[in-house]
Order: sequence, then structure tokens, then C-alpha cells
Amino acid sequence: ARLLLLHGPNLNLLGTREPEVYGRTTLADIDATLHEQAAAAGHELECLQSNAEHVLVERIQAARDDGTAFILINPAAFTHTSVAIRDALAAVAIPYIEIHLSNPHAREPFRQHSYFSDKAVGVVCGFGADSYAYALDAALRRLAPAGA
Ligand code: DQA
Repeated sequence: ARLLLLHGPNLNLLGTREPEVYGRTTLADIDATLHEQAAAAGHELECLQSNAEHVLVERIQAARDDGTAFILINPAAFTHTSVAIRDALAAVAIPYIEIHLSNPHAREPFRQHSYFSDKAVGVVCGFGADSYAYALDAALRRLAPAGA
């Protein structure tokens, strides 16, 4: 199956961005690791990072017609602001898992509301770059075995 991994704003800076909060793993490392993890299970993963809300909205809309079976998304700051990305996910009705490197519940109050969690299959947060691996594992367990 095809899976889509979306990263929101400032995640292009991973590795050097507040490493005490987000760790030292780069986005390229995360994407490469997940790509391999999906391929090992016989699935295909496409990754996209954008600092622009409309780019993420448009990629989600396109997923309706390109056979995407599952979306993994770290909306980053858009987690706390974006009705538009929430609505795009609802429009395409593709199951998604919400991911965060940090644990937003242990941080500032404004990070404790998410526009995504109530519609997500699940939320993985607080495990640094491993949050992505755990989320992909959960998605793969929900997909039919490759070739089936
Ligand atoms: C984040 C948490 C958000 O609150 C923050 O705005 C981010 C990253 C995380 O992965 O921990 O940019 O989504």
C-alpha cells in the first residue's frame, strides 16, 4: 500500500532546532529510516515537509486520488492552529496517526489542544524520532499484508 508521511513547519530544522526538546536526529534521517521500515514490510512511503499550510492541504487533497491508504502526520505548530488541515483530512477520509517528537502535554498550555487528536486513529508523542517509528509500526499493523 501507499503511505504518506507529512511534516509541518520548522521540522526542516530538526537536528539543530532546540535539540534539548526535539533531539539531534535530522528530518532526512527520519525519512530514510521510515522509508526503509515501510519497504521492509512491502509498502511504499512518500515523505513531504512544508512550512506552508496550503501545501499540506493540497497534498492531502491529492491523496484522495493517488491510492494513499494511510497518512502519518506531525502537523508541528499547525497542530494547535489549523482547522484547514483538519478539514482536509476529514474531506479525504483517509485514516491518520498524529505524531509529535516532544510530549505536548508536558509543555506550554497552548500546546495541549490539538485540532487532530479527536479524529486520529491514534497519537504517538514524547519519544523523539522514535515516535515516527512507533506510528509507522501501528499503521503497518492495520494494513493488509503486502501482496495480499
Ligand atoms: C511538535 C510539537 C508542537 O507543539 C511544535 O509546534 C512543533 C513540534 C513535536 O513534534 O513535538 O513544531 O509537533
